[in-house]
Amino acid sequence: MTAIRPRTPGELRRNRRPRSHSCWDHLYAAPLWPLHGANLGTLARTCDAVGACLVLPRFSWVPEALARGNTLRRPVCVHWTGDPAGWLGGQRERGADVVGVELADEAVRLADLPAARRRTVMVLGHEQHGIPPEALDLLDTCVEIPMIGTGASLNVAVAGSLALYKLAGLL
Ligand SMILES: C[S@@+](CC[C@H](N)C(=O)[O-])C[C@H]1O[C@@H](n2cnc3c(N)ncnc32)[C@H](O)[C@@H]1O
Repeated sequence: MTAIRPRTPGELRRNRRPRSHSCWDHLYAAPLWPLHGANLGTLARTCDAVGACLVLPRFSWVPEALARGNTLRRPVCVHWTGDPAGWLGGQRERGADVVGVELADEAVRLADLPAARRRTVMVLGHEQHGIPPEALDLLDTCVEIPMIGTGASLNVAVAGSLALYKLAGLL
């Protein structure tokens, strides 16, 4: 059997991009109604890993929570909005694909979700109430991550990270 040798931090760094992406025609992770700051730090790391932007509401506690959860060497690309539903509607008008990550009858399974081929916004729901009704009306597609356990749903950062990897074409 071949011996497994984990890569060193130096080797890992040499394989990474030297600088951040450009936001033009890009992939956006949008946890627009967050409740727990810790999930934002987790999502920021996944955004960095797949080269996506993070879209956040201008709630007073969010910048501090993001800074606390951010263990990255370079800051992730964050877009701020004071009007989450208005921002989503604007992206749609500009031709973006709006993909909701939600447990819903009409949803496609994660395995059947194609990688994003143009500007795509991935919308995540509130940790207790899910995606609000006014935003559900703005979705082009909805994706569900199948579950067979006893829990009702996944942690929002776990669900968002899985869907983001699929949309980025890295899974
Ligand atoms: C903890 S869940 C909220 C569930 C909420 N109790 C409800 O009934 O709508 C928070 C968010 O995580 C995402 N999520 C969690 N599990 C998911 C799954 N299995 N498939 C798709 N999205 C999921 C959705 O964006 C959801 O809005």
